[in-house]
Amino acid sequence: MHLIDKYLKKFISKNDYILFQDKLTSANNSLINSTCKGNEMLGWMRLDTDIKKIEQISEKIKSEAEIVFVVGIGGSYTGAKMAIDFLKPFSENKIYFLGNNIDAENTLDIFEKCKDKSVHVVIVSKSGSTLEIRATLAVVIEFMYKKYEDRANKRFTAVTGSTGLLNEIAKKNSWNILKISEDVGGRFSVLTNAGLLPISIAGANIKKIVDGAIQAKYEFMETNNICHRYSTIRNILYSKGFKVELISSFSTRLDGMLAWLKQLFGESEGKENKGIFPSSAMFSSDLHSIGQFIQEGSKILFETILFSENFPKDIKISSNHNDELLRNKSFNEINLKILEGSSLAHYEGGVPCLILKFKEFKEFELGKLIFFFEKSCALSALILGVNPFNQPGVEAYKKNTIKLLG
Ligand code: PA5
Repeated sequence: MHLIDKYLKKFISKNDYILFQDKLTSANNSLINSTCKGNEMLGWMRLDTDIKKIEQISEKIKSEAEIVFVVGIGGSYTGAKMAIDFLKPFSENKIYFLGNNIDAENTLDIFEKCKDKSVHVVIVSKSGSTLEIRATLAVVIEFMYKKYEDRANKRFTAVTGSTGLLNEIAKKNSWNILKISEDVGGRFSVLTNAGLLPISIAGANIKKIVDGAIQAKYEFMETNNICHRYSTIRNILYSKGFKVELISSFSTRLDGMLAWLKQLFGESEGKENKGIFPSSAMFSSDLHSIGQFIQEGSKILFETILFSENFPKDIKISSNHNDELLRNKSFNEINLKILEGSSLAHYEGGVPCLILKFKEFKEFELGKLIFFFEKSCALSALILGVNPFNQPGVEAYKKNTIKLLG
């Protein structure tokens, strides 16, 4: 994994890094010594989840169900979705994500598709009281009881905190329960039971993911690593008026990654009237839409481009094709040229561009990427001076909605 910063040169000087060095050092020390803001929420750095236990539960679920409903929202959904998109693992069991919005048509369509299939339900909710999850669970329970009558309870697994509504429901109905530690917040929970159970059900090797993260944890402990550099660059650009980070990619395998990163950074940094607004773009398609804005619109954006050095597949255009420009070229070669052509154009148009290249779409590399972004996010928020691990702003809409429903 490496950061290419040649398209930052006219925006960031050596002196800028020097000016931010003390803030970075103190943020990193406070994270390592557990003295930072929100230090009661550092459980994501332990990486000590019981992999064997998850794999056993996952195997049992897969053997008894063709379909698995994974009910979750926010951090209890985006991490698993991100990993499954990235790896495209093979599994004979199909996963449907539910509860991440209140969409009656989508929910009914899924019920219809699954009415004659065997189903298991995994509900992931740390608090257990999130409104969207309560509403979805209500209709899922009805669907399951209609289908399985009193045998339905054997087909539920709750991944939740030690207290709360879901924990109570699960205990009352003798559902299988996996814990989410109190010291891990939703958006930092992908490498715990919350994310790893759905990822394992989807057919991925979760041990390799966690091994990758453990390697990254030690690699990114030392000073001047790419994790430190990325969090510093974000803060330098923010201090110069670039308030929006456009995270972009050239592969649909990164669809979930873009969504997870928007949540990770948005919910961690956007508070106390501060923070970089995380936005995303999928290239090439978005080069033909917001590409215009990036190139010539308000200069509020900087770009962070995620690019894999290896793609699982390629297509070559034949040597006798009549379009001479493209003869003998492969899709991956063309994609690389679009990356280079668009980053240079954006840079020349006044947009700082940072490119993060990673090795491949495999488990170990994914684990490294996850830890890289989690630590970069924590450091970046601490340099900014906010608590990375709370989300007081999310409560406002929840309170209003519950009041309106009451
Ligand atoms: O990062 C977070 O803490 C949030 O995004 C939560 O994951 C989200 O609100 C869902 O909460 P819960 O898992 O309690 O249902």
